Amino acid sequence: MSWNVQVATWTSNNRYPGIFRTVQNRVASKLGQGLGGARLKLLSFGCSDGSEVSTLRSYFPEAAIYACDINAGALHSAAELLFMDEAVVFLSSPENIAEHGPFDVIFALSVLCRFPESMSPTITNLQHLYRFENFESTIELLAGNLKQHGMLCLYNTNYNFLQTSVASRFSVVRSPLVASNGFVDRFDSSGHRVTWCEKVGPYYVHRLHGNQEFEPVADFKSCIFEAGSGEADIWVPFGETSLPSEAAPPELMRFGPDLPYCASRNLVATALGYWFPEFGNDRLIVRAWHSTTPEGTVEQGVPWAVRSGSDVKATLATHPGSRLPPAPLPTRSERAVGAIRSVKQYIYTRPTRHICSL
Ligand SMILES: C[S@@+](CC[C@H](N)C(=O)[O-])C[C@H]1O[C@@H](n2cnc3c(N)ncnc32)[C@H](O)[C@@H]1O
Repeated sequence: MSWNVQVATWTSNNRYPGIFRTVQNRVASKLGQGLGGARLKLLSFGCSDGSEVSTLRSYFPEAAIYACDINAGALHSAAELLFMDEAVVFLSSPENIAEHGPFDVIFALSVLCRFPESMSPTITNLQHLYRFENFESTIELLAGNLKQHGMLCLYNTNYNFLQTSVASRFSVVRSPLVASNGFVDRFDSSGHRVTWCEKVGPYYVHRLHGNQEFEPVADFKSCIFEAGSGEADIWVPFGETSLPSEAAPPELMRFGPDLPYCASRNLVATALGYWFPEFGNDRLIVRAWHSTTPEGTVEQGVPWAVRSGSDVKATLATHPGSRLPPAPLPTRSERAVGAIRSVKQYIYTRPTRHICSL
């Protein structure tokens, strides 16, 4: 089996809050508010410099966390970052994973892909760069190292988990917080391109390649899979259970690309909307992910609400950068790094790009 996949080690803290909170709630529903204490075993597969482990530690304070990677430099950074943590950091190999497993949850986030290489305009079939068979065998290996009702979390994969041999044994875990399984270019099990990854403003979206069918739930939203019967989806609820009945339009898309623009161009995209209804004596913040649909419209996902203070609306309606002092001018070396980055981006990105008006 060809084992190494994603080459880039890009990472940061709390990159996937919707996934982490959904898994946390699902674990709590099975093991109670203590989240299974130290009996809960997690694996960060492709941990890079360990930022993901620090994040997992904040969601699962008592868990036994294991972290592996193929990149020796990244592993040393992780060991350094985690010097105060009890995490077990090890070199990724099928044998080492089996030695430490089985796990309750395996996170393989932004690992099972070749990005940004898959964005190249010359690639219409990915097989020469990353074979579906390799993706499937890695998935089989990870699935084989899960406990009986363990969960496998996947984000940014070039191929679709639901096309693998093990998918029928898994149920999809869904929640209002999880609206997308990533932005990297998608390919079918023969390696043929399904989507192009494209930038709209600062956000990545999917452009469908040729006459592909747009199956929003199966192909673009599923990212947490729980081993078991493989039957109905598992729904993880969030927030207040009784909401004002009228569905208010979002006042603000706080995070995400210009959805009407994306919908009119058949781009697959998601953005998070907020609104602030009065509810009895309270003010609520209601959030909902919104997605483009195959019909070219924008659809609201299931909303979730929390009670809030009166000043929260003003805070959320403010752009994060608007209260900062002006940025210092870049130094000469920062300008050089920026120029190299734009050249790389130009090489990997398709020429038709739109700057979002949001
Ligand atoms: C883009 S980083 C993702 C880091 C982190 N999971 C995140 O999402 O922030 C991808 C990481 O996967 C690692 N990787 C690639 N193939 C792997 C494999 N077979 N086993 C473990 N790690 C692998 C790379 O070395 C790299 O550090």
